[in-house]
Amino acid sequence: MSGDLFEGIVGRKAVAALDIVELDLLPPGGGALPAFSAGAHIDVEVRPGLLRQYSLCNDPAETHRYQIGVLREPNSRGGSIAVHDALREGQRIRIGAPRNRFPLVPAQRSLLFAGGIGITPLLSMAEQLARDAAAFEMHYCTRSPSRTAFAARIAASAFAGRVCIHHDDGPPAQRLDLHCVLPAPHVQTHLYVCGPRGFIDWVCGTARASGWAPAQIHVEHFAGDGPQPDGQSFEVRLARSGATLPVPAGRSVAAVLHDHGIDLPVSCEQGVCGTCLTRVLAGEPEHRDSYLTDEERCRNDQFLPCCSRSRSACLVLDL
Ligand code: FES
Repeated sequence: MSGDLFEGIVGRKAVAALDIVELDLLPPGGGALPAFSAGAHIDVEVRPGLLRQYSLCNDPAETHRYQIGVLREPNSRGGSIAVHDALREGQRIRIGAPRNRFPLVPAQRSLLFAGGIGITPLLSMAEQLARDAAAFEMHYCTRSPSRTAFAARIAASAFAGRVCIHHDDGPPAQRLDLHCVLPAPHVQTHLYVCGPRGFIDWVCGTARASGWAPAQIHVEHFAGDGPQPDGQSFEVRLARSGATLPVPAGRSVAAVLHDHGIDLPVSCEQGVCGTCLTRVLAGEPEHRDSYLTDEERCRNDQFLPCCSRSRSACLVLDL
């Protein structure tokens, strides 16, 4: 869930590729920021009241800055536009301490698959794995060279030889041939995938069809890919007040709660960040988030009301 925010300063802001900017976020008085591990993300208040989550893409050994890369989303709900058009070098903003739902796990070998801006957490992982002298390779897929963020940094890195960059708009030989690069499953090899939903589905689906176990496939979703609240109507009952509220098709539980004056914190509104996590006391949620693990979903004792719905006629919430 989102934690407390603290003040940071926008350091360097630069174009990383077409429609992608990279930003350094610095502690206001110099010194060190809270440490992070590869795969972590932070909350960034991109303008007052608008929180967004961004993966950190710098080397986790660095403590003087957090580095993020942000794609200008054509269907932005305000976050990416604010970062691209409004944030300025030297500006003070509020950020959250790093959290990690996409950590590296000990393995003999790691395979990283990045689609587009999904490179950000995987770049941090590559830095860590290279530092650890671990066995890994990364496949980075973009539409074209002009949309390939951090290409120069990768080319100049110590791990350049372990990265293959693929372009969808290039000749067939430049495109990622998953069947060719995916090895046979091995219990000591783990896959990490981040990118647009279609890319994630493609890589994970191919891996599963090749026999890879779910426990060896690690995925990070982006907020912009979250599901929208539609589906059937149902009711939520608030255990503390006893109130019963109808949730119509097309309205999220979070929106209905807000309509009735229930102060539920929300941030991404896409089932990604965990800010709105709410305990479920009875009923069966229909989980539509990207935040909970499969194990957590199966327990059915919590859900994300910004996007998830109900399989039962009524959900009883600890509110
Ligand atoms: Fe981010 Fe609900 S607000 S998961």
